[in-house]
Amino acid sequence: MVFLFAHPPQLASIKDLLARCDLPHEDLDPNSIVHFLTCRTEGTLAGATGMDVLNAAAVLRPPAVAPELRGRGIGSLLLVRIERFAALAGARQFFARGGVNEDYLLARGYLRISWDEIPEAVRSHAVFSDAAGQETGGLVKNLVATKMPAARKAASGH
Ligand SMILES: CC(C)(COP(=O)(O)OP(=O)(O)OC[C@H]1O[C@@H](n2cnc3c(N)ncnc32)[C@H](O)[C@@H]1OP(=O)(O)O)[C@@H](O)C(=O)NCCC(=O)NCCS
Repeated sequence: MVFLFAHPPQLASIKDLLARCDLPHEDLDPNSIVHFLTCRTEGTLAGATGMDVLNAAAVLRPPAVAPELRGRGIGSLLLVRIERFAALAGARQFFARGGVNEDYLLARGYLRISWDEIPEAVRSHAVFSDAAGQETGGLVKNLVATKMPAARKAASGH
């Protein structure tokens, strides 16, 4: 299992995966796709999740895992990794859309919040920009900016 950030040529395959998982993907383009973390296994794209770090707030593009590869921990592994990368990029809160599959995120430390509690910049993001967002509200998780051991080692020069 290999986790790598996406490259622009993967735009079509990631959009296809998100479409198969019924997740928003219409706004994605070669610039935004590079903020997606992918998981490849057995030579195929198994899953992907994305982040858009706006400032201290970041928008999570929730994990999508190929139906035939679910239940192996790929979604959870993608999520913990994208949370770590968002924190390292300066985000302190990760916002996600509420909706049909929100239980998956609620079980992983996210809390439900109302539409009014979502920062304006996040609300105007493509993920939140349709009218349904006002009814479903959103989810938020506070991120902790712990450095990865390798990054700490490199920083200390040893
Ligand atoms: C949700 C999703 C990413 C999970 O991927 P996955 O690789 O199978 O997830 P994991 O293997 O890490 O976790 C599986 C666990 O999550 C649970 N789970 C799966 N979908 C769930 C959901 N919608 N709500 C609550 N729990 C869910 C499973 O029952 C399983 O529980 P267990 O560990 O107690 O057996 C995948 O089902 C998917 O792509 N769904 C469609 C896209 C989607 O809705 N994504 C947004 C989720 S916020």
